[in-house]
Amino acid sequence: MHKFIAMVGTNSDESTNRKLLQFMQTHYADQAEMELMEIKDLPVFNKPESLQIPEQAQAMAAKIEEADGVIISTPEYDHSAPAALMNALEWLSFHIKPFADKPVMIMGASYGALGTSRAQAHLRQILDSPELKARIMPSSEFMLGHSLQAFDDAGQLTDNQKVAQLDSLFGEFQMFVEITKKLKNSHAATYQDVRGMDWTKL
Ligand SMILES: Cc1cc2nc3c(=O)[nH]c(=O)nc-3n(C[C@H](O)[C@H](O)[C@H](O)COP(=O)(O)O)c2cc1C
Repeated sequence: MHKFIAMVGTNSDESTNRKLLQFMQTHYADQAEMELMEIKDLPVFNKPESLQIPEQAQAMAAKIEEADGVIISTPEYDHSAPAALMNALEWLSFHIKPFADKPVMIMGASYGALGTSRAQAHLRQILDSPELKARIMPSSEFMLGHSLQAFDDAGQLTDNQKVAQLDSLFGEFQMFVEITKKLKNSHAATYQDVRGMDWTKL
């Protein structure tokens, strides 16, 4: 059974993105183990000269390294991903490189109709940077619009079409994880490149 990290892309206590990941955790319990990862207690990234990385970021990196893949659910703020999520990714690309070649599925929930399409596009670009170099599942988007109305009191997604779309994408992500494992040559090269990437030595 695959082990996935489900990263909550916000530092907000009330979050429909967290609800979406919690729904997936139970809905796919017979297919994969999903552990929720919070980003909310991380300090603001300040490129410390000491290269000292907060313990929480180190613990997060260790869990990501161990996992078969990462699912990130992002809100959309001002047509982009929240600063809190970018902050987490900055820590997770500073002398620790847990995302190197890691299969990642991007999704998002927002109150508006478009369901984070722009935030997801930005996040894809960030995760493709040489410091992170994740393996982002191509041609896939799961956008939950009107997310405040999307769940019932038990935390279930009420739109069956959305659930069917999510089922299909989740199945594809499991396949994508296996395909990525087979790209051994490419994996070695990517890992080498990303490990060697150090902005403090340019
Ligand atoms: C500062 C700010 C900017 C926002 N910008 C957008 C936006 O560009 N597009 C959008 O669909 N929703 C936008 N929203 C609404 C969010 O979708 C909503 O507040 C919420 O964060 C959705 O995620 P959550 O339930 O996980 O917090 C914005 C909200 C805030 C507070």
